[in-house]
Amino acid sequence: MNLLEIINLTTHFQTPDGIVQAVDKIDLSIREKETFGLIGETGCGKTVIGLTIMRLLPPTATVGGEILYNGKNLLEVSETGMRKIRGEEIAIILQNPTTSLNPVLKVGEQIAEAIRLHQGLNKHDAKKKAIEMLDSVRISSPSRRANEYPHKFSGGMKQRVMIAMGLACDPSFIIADEPTKGLDVTIKAQIVELMKEMTEHKAMLLITHDLGVAAEMCDRIALMYAGELVEYAPLDEIFEKPLHPYTIGFLNSLPKKGLVPIPGMSPSLINFPDGCRFHSRCDYATGECKQKHPDMVEMGNGHFVRCFHARS
Ligand SMILES: Nc1ncnc2c1ncn2[C@@H]1O[C@H](COP(=O)(O)OP(=O)(O)OP(=O)(O)O)[C@@H](O)[C@H]1O
Ligand SMILES: [Mg+2]
Repeated sequence: MNLLEIINLTTHFQTPDGIVQAVDKIDLSIREKETFGLIGETGCGKTVIGLTIMRLLPPTATVGGEILYNGKNLLEVSETGMRKIRGEEIAIILQNPTTSLNPVLKVGEQIAEAIRLHQGLNKHDAKKKAIEMLDSVRISSPSRRANEYPHKFSGGMKQRVMIAMGLACDPSFIIADEPTKGLDVTIKAQIVELMKEMTEHKAMLLITHDLGVAAEMCDRIALMYAGELVEYAPLDEIFEKPLHPYTIGFLNSLPKKGLVPIPGMSPSLINFPDGCRFHSRCDYATGECKQKHPDMVEMGNGHFVRCFHARS
């Protein structure tokens, strides 16, 4: 059963240069307990999808479509209702722990504050729960560490704190935005293991640039390009039978494939090109690709692709 169903979601930002179409008619669903990976180059709209689901956008944003969570459209929930959902049901682990943690608050206090806000525990119990959470993300001497400020924590440790904070209210759905960004290989592997263990029975939208991390954690993966999804499928299908030239290019840019970057740049989200948004960078592009915008088509086995030339 789908826990989250996103239908025709559009998020636009009004800017002095024009309207940035950061998320453009996205359809996506996430099942109970599933980890769904969202992958794509910088600026394609991944974080904006996460913030749109959480309704954490600035006033310059306009959102259209539906975000059904357990059948309820989050876009129609009141701000009070949304605050409750953020505290109890959906958590977001934000992209940058260094800026997301408050430098002047002790780590334990920050987690306790989040717990108190959402779970109504008293100060003492919230602090106790915060220490338990630090322990659960394997931060040693949690009682002592709870009394330290964020600058005493390394990148990997800060990331653990972010995970502890995200999971403190026992959400059923987690949005994790680049949880391993900037971490070295060993620490990254530890964070991946920790997240796998701690989210085993939860549904997750995992946003990442890192296909290696996605391969470790995801059940299904979607590739996003210039505000839209271009391919999604179960994990093995993406790695063994990638169909979209963008996905193929992305796989070839992995270190073990020799790091061949996809030439060219993504188009502006203010003026999309005619036709397929990837056509100017695509070796297979034909006249049709320059004129017509391809629809998402099912190729079997839950594999969907937006390309006129996808081989089945
Ligand atoms: N508040 C905003 N106002 C205007 N444009 C915005 C705003 N937030 C994001 N954007 C634009 O929306 C687009 C998508 O941004 P987003 O942060 O979702 O990218 P991303 O895929 O998460 O990239 P990265 O991998 O670098 O994190 C970008 O072009 C960005 O500049
Ligand atoms: Mg982002």
